[in-house]
Amino acid sequence: MEEWQVENIVKAFMYAPSAMHYRPCHIIVVLDKEMLEKLSRATPWAKMIEKAGAAFVIVGDEKRSPWWVEDCSVASENILLEVADMGLGACWVQVRSIAEDMDPESTVKALLNIPDDLRVLNMIAVGVPKRTKEPHTEAEVEKERLHYERF
Ligand SMILES: Cc1cc2nc3c(=O)[nH]c(=O)nc-3n(C[C@H](O)[C@H](O)[C@H](O)COP(=O)(O)O)c2cc1C
Repeated sequence: MEEWQVENIVKAFMYAPSAMHYRPCHIIVVLDKEMLEKLSRATPWAKMIEKAGAAFVIVGDEKRSPWWVEDCSVASENILLEVADMGLGACWVQVRSIAEDMDPESTVKALLNIPDDLRVLNMIAVGVPKRTKEPHTEAEVEKERLHYERF
């Protein structure tokens, strides 16, 4: 990944809105190949991180804001949009509460020296996609999920 691309992603994250402007989110930029490989094994659905150019790990401080999940999600979406705008590909890899019998959050925290009292929402894999997906179509506008004026 080029330095300017990383910088754009970090800016997109930092410019995200947050409830009451509490700014409870942190971002960890991971470029190291060995670390990317380790992170790709943190959850069963993180394989693409192994060959990604970078991973952006989004961390929230729940002491600082009860809305850290919302804030970190909004900041993550900013990253996804910025990545698309640069012609790269990204994938959200869930870390927080993926299953009762799995604890990827502890694994990621240990790998990246994240303090115990912080939370890990996700890891966003970014790279040059091998193939591009078909664009969304109007068929995906599901009428049963669309409501006007009342539910
Ligand atoms: C909250 C959330 C968690 C996700 N977790 C994962 C994940 O762990 N691994 C993965 O490969 N994709 C993950 N995704 C990506 C979704 O699978 C993907 O957005 C969905 O299949 C639709 O595909 P599209 O985004 O290309 O339209 C996640 C998306 C969201 C919004």
